[in-house]
Amino acid sequence: MTALLQELGAIAGSAFAAEGLSAELGQVQRSDRPDLAQFQCNGALAAAKSVRGNPREIAQRIAARLKADPLFAKIDIAGPGFINLDVSDEALAIRAGTMAKDAKLGAPETGTGKTLVIDYGGPNVAKPMHVGHLRAAIIGDSLKRLYRANGWRVIGDVHLGDWGLQMGQLISEIGRRGIAPVYFDPACKGPYPDESPVTMDNLEELYPAAAAACKADPERLEEARRATAELQAGRPGYVALWKHFVTVSERGLKREYGSLGVDFDLWNGEASVYPLIAPIVEDLKARGLAEESEGALVVTVAEEGDKKESPPLILLKSDGAVLYGTTDLATVVDRIKSYDPDLILYIVDQRQHGHFEQVFRAARKANLNGKAELEHAGFGTMNGPDGRPFKTRAGGVMKLFDLIAMTTDEARGRLAEAGLAGDYPEAEREDIARKVGIAALKFADLSNYRLTDYIFDLARFAKFEGKTGPYLQYAAVRIQSILRKAEERGLTEAARPVLHSPEERALILQLLALPDAMTAAEEKRAPNVLCDYVFTLAQAFSRFYSEHHVLSEKDEKVRAARLGLCRLTVDVLTKVLDLLGIEVPSRM
Ligand code: ARG
Repeated sequence: MTALLQELGAIAGSAFAAEGLSAELGQVQRSDRPDLAQFQCNGALAAAKSVRGNPREIAQRIAARLKADPLFAKIDIAGPGFINLDVSDEALAIRAGTMAKDAKLGAPETGTGKTLVIDYGGPNVAKPMHVGHLRAAIIGDSLKRLYRANGWRVIGDVHLGDWGLQMGQLISEIGRRGIAPVYFDPACKGPYPDESPVTMDNLEELYPAAAAACKADPERLEEARRATAELQAGRPGYVALWKHFVTVSERGLKREYGSLGVDFDLWNGEASVYPLIAPIVEDLKARGLAEESEGALVVTVAEEGDKKESPPLILLKSDGAVLYGTTDLATVVDRIKSYDPDLILYIVDQRQHGHFEQVFRAARKANLNGKAELEHAGFGTMNGPDGRPFKTRAGGVMKLFDLIAMTTDEARGRLAEAGLAGDYPEAEREDIARKVGIAALKFADLSNYRLTDYIFDLARFAKFEGKTGPYLQYAAVRIQSILRKAEERGLTEAARPVLHSPEERALILQLLALPDAMTAAEEKRAPNVLCDYVFTLAQAFSRFYSEHHVLSEKDEKVRAARLGLCRLTVDVLTKVLDLLGIEVPSRM
């Protein structure tokens, strides 16, 4: 089904074309003044500039043509030449009926035939996840759901930080402590034990200890570097040990992400592209794209017109070690080869923007990016009340599990306060508290434009009033309960609404705006567009519901139509919340 805005734009476009003007001038948008009109077209102003005509006169000619279309209930011209449009109630009702019958609720097909690879994990083996990883997961998971709903083929990759110095630090620490000598015995040719010699808890103690020791002692650091180099060169005992770290960490990370309702299609890591690096480096050298600079091998990425300095991408350090950028460049090559995507999106802290700019420039310069657009969709920080990146009270990084436990506690308290779920079985009440807590966390994060920093304020996020996740869950639950009662009473629902009032009209207009919100959120890579949309929808419903009878409506036809409107509203609410990664409990 075609979105209403597009439909209107096409009609206005033909009117412009019939006047010998560009059809593109017919673009229609939602009115800036909903009190005056539903939609507006500003094309006459632009047209007047290009043909040096009078904008009001052009607007009148266009309006005269549009008047022939029964779709419009009202067409008038405002100010210097804005064309204000209202669609007839009949036309709105038909379109709402079509939307109600569409399993995809009119989702735009912007991604048909297109592939997206989205990178929204980035946790590091043996290191606990921090709030930056949390934001990547929440924003990336929402974008993954949105792009999929818009028809894209989407591949989500966790891109584990599983290579590099921290691995050598861990290995050498384990060696020193004599925890698992067999992995260090040069005489041992394997096979090595299947069981990991360390648990996740061990790793979380070993890694900070090793990192601190390396910081304090240059010799200890040298030892870690050697272990890293030997691992990368394939020393069997080290590789076996490293595999254990990855397996153990992956298991822990999957549980943490799982508790948030986030998953990944690929559990690739930085290490998985290591074998690609040598051939890429050779190729870049052969093509004269990589050059020696102060002992290192670099790709120059400065471009004409750069306003600030663009340092080169370092491929190999003077000791031959590879860096973060080298791995990301090899990952581009791997993703192009495996999926031939149209777009690769990186949902990573904005502070890494410079890094991605270097990698992307190098990839484009060397033609390594296939047909893909490479884009860093960065985000700001979640801060504590002190305005600095969020930490635990003790000053450490907040673990995801603890954070979720905290939000669940808050939600439990709020539910009790609001008198909700009180008499439900314990297990169900807990499940509701968990869902409400996660909704509070995710909605608060997503409702800010991703680049904006925000302050973690759980008490505000978990409120059942205002622009919060719990408010929207509750709105959906209430409509579900109306529909359940209607079913119990054997009342019929009609898919096609009957419009009688401004509240019904406003609600339907908002429902029909779903595809536009989905398109705009995709274009801006910005789930906050969906948050605004769904909040406005809940408000429009609430106005409708407070003005009109539904279950108690006497006129059977009107009641059926209103129940249909409830159904469509709850379907859209639930769908948009799902795009935000928020589950709606079946009751509260
Ligand atoms: N592991 C990195 C970190 O913790 C994030 C990785 C993001 N993704 C990427 N392709 N570089 O900062």
